[in-house]
Amino acid sequence: MTLKDQINKDKLPKHIAIIMDGNGRWAKQKGLVRVIGHENGTKSVRETVESCAELGIEHLTLYAFSTENWNRPKLEVQTLMKLLVKSLKKEIKTLQDNGIRLSAIGCLQDLPKKAFDELEYVKEMTRNNTHMTLTLALSYGSREEIVNVIKELSFKVKNNIISSESIDESIINKHLYTQNLPDVDLLIRTSGEQRISNFLLWQIAYAELYFTDVLWPDFNKENLYEALIDYQNRERRFGKTSEQLT
Ligand code: IPE
Ligand code: IPE
Ligand code: MG
Repeated sequence: MTLKDQINKDKLPKHIAIIMDGNGRWAKQKGLVRVIGHENGTKSVRETVESCAELGIEHLTLYAFSTENWNRPKLEVQTLMKLLVKSLKKEIKTLQDNGIRLSAIGCLQDLPKKAFDELEYVKEMTRNNTHMTLTLALSYGSREEIVNVIKELSFKVKNNIISSESIDESIINKHLYTQNLPDVDLLIRTSGEQRISNFLLWQIAYAELYFTDVLWPDFNKENLYEALIDYQNRERRFGKTSEQLT
């Protein structure tokens, strides 16, 4: 039985989020510059996106660039932004062919204009696709996202648009960048690092975490299937006892 056959189609996570890490180390291991690692990482993005769409995953969110990544060497940041524009142009067909709607979360105004415009264009072109939502986290920081929510809610309370008593989890959800997405069910991080790095802190409250040593440019559909099988073998109790679930 192949790995793919072992996946239970009735127990798929609704929302998978991935911290795509290890591009730099992948390149270094081969004696190449970091940027080559990022270029090769785009192949893993395509394979992962296509495989998720084929399996019937409804929401896939990819951490592509963090607010902290702006502190990297200028040349690396510039190359990553150019790579983003190039990939968006190139992959629009993949998105259309697979019925994928592109979305983005993060402080998008901080992106270079070319990247921002291309992103808006692809979002617009794919807005009627319904098979899967692909969300790119760009210039994304979870703490920044939460700070923005608090600012907006305090403004609304101050101006009597809402009462402080009415603030609950659902109102907070509606003010996050991820307002249209369900909670994350499965969070994958590649490259052996076992940390969250300021990604979706609120949204992963009950996500299953999966860490693999595979470096992102080597991550392929078999690795995705392995993560899914691992996820499906876990018992998600959400605070209840095991007996209560049956
Ligand atoms: C992930 O790979 C890509 C981004 C963070 C943009 P890295 O560039 O972090 O690769 P490592 O962690 O240095 O190997
Ligand atoms: C997290 O990776 C951000 C992305 C994958 C875009 P980093 O490589 O920036 O994370 P840290 O700094 O090692 O935690
Ligand atoms: Mg890294």
